[in-house]
Amino acid sequence: MKVLFLNGPNLNLLGQRQPEIYGTTTLADIEAATRTHAGDRAEVEFRQSNLEGELVNWIQEAAEEAAAVVLNAAGYTHTSVAIRDAITATTVPVIEIHLSNIHAREEFRHESLLASECAGQICGFGKQSYLLGLDAALSIKNT
Ligand code: DQA
Repeated sequence: MKVLFLNGPNLNLLGQRQPEIYGTTTLADIEAATRTHAGDRAEVEFRQSNLEGELVNWIQEAAEEAAAVVLNAAGYTHTSVAIRDAITATTVPVIEIHLSNIHAREEFRHESLLASECAGQICGFGKQSYLLGLDAALSIKNT
């Protein structure tokens, strides 16, 4: 089965962006660690976009290509009705993840417009959030 990891704006800057919050690991490093963690349990595909509409398109298309989506919508988590609506519309389970604990940061980050439409939310574990996201996707599909 394929698990599609969708990454939103500014996550292409991981490694150099606010390392005190997001760590020094790049998105490519996280992708490699996620692939290793998956082993032969799942095919892993990573995509990143700074564009809201591109993320919406990918969520719409996900049902044809993946068994589950693991989504770090980054800043769009807190603002995007369009991404929320795409999650509501899709038949594929979507797992929301964040590197940082959004509930322990600025108040505007406490609200996720996406969380209620997702199978669940994982946040605060740094790059481990991606590995836990994969495990969550597998457990949803295997139970
Ligand atoms: C983030 C948290 C968001 O609030 C922020 O806008 C990001 C990254 C995280 O992974 O911790 O860009 O999604």
